Amino acid sequence: MKSIYFITGNKGKFSEVKEKLKRLDVAVIQENLGYPEVQGDSLEEVAGYGVEHIKKRFLHPFIIEDAGLFVDALDGFPGVYSKYVFFTIGCKGILKLLEDKKRRTAVFRSVYAYSEPNNKPLFFIGECQGIITTKERGEGGFGYDPIFIPDGETKTFAEMNTEEKNTFSHRGKALDKLIDFLKEK
Ligand code: IMP
Repeated sequence: MKSIYFITGNKGKFSEVKEKLKRLDVAVIQENLGYPEVQGDSLEEVAGYGVEHIKKRFLHPFIIEDAGLFVDALDGFPGVYSKYVFFTIGCKGILKLLEDKKRRTAVFRSVYAYSEPNNKPLFFIGECQGIITTKERGEGGFGYDPIFIPDGETKTFAEMNTEEKNTFSHRGKALDKLIDFLKEK
């Protein structure tokens, strides 16, 4: 069985990936090495810095993932600042910023970077369009899940189980592209 390292401290992300890669003959191993999330203009830039940092001390093929919520009425905020914003103002802060806004559209973006020791990283991108709720709903998931409803649904991500969320989610779509690539390897 092939194995791949997923460098992340986020249990929610790890279980999503494990669930999906179950079908391939690939074992996913979580490594919580930690790496600096340098602020960049795009998720690819942030992930690219992370890869270079990890590669200096980790000599196996690995993946990392970076994601963000881009709210249209806030000109794409929190975007690449999603992590910091979540740990400071959180879901409640985003709802407050949107209090008087009619436009509730937003997009979750995810980028996976796949890295091998002697090659440049490859990026796999996924998006999920949706709307921001007016109240937090649901107990599952993580991060901004309680305030995000994907297009065509009535439930928030936090009201879905992992498998259900994966069928819609930005990370699920990016992961499908990564899986297609891994299948061919
Ligand atoms: P990260 O830097 O990729 O870990 O993600 C940035 C921030 O976006 C994190 O603080 C998460 O809370 C949030 N985030 C990333 N992916 C998701 C998701 O699938 N659902 C909800 N929030 C997410």
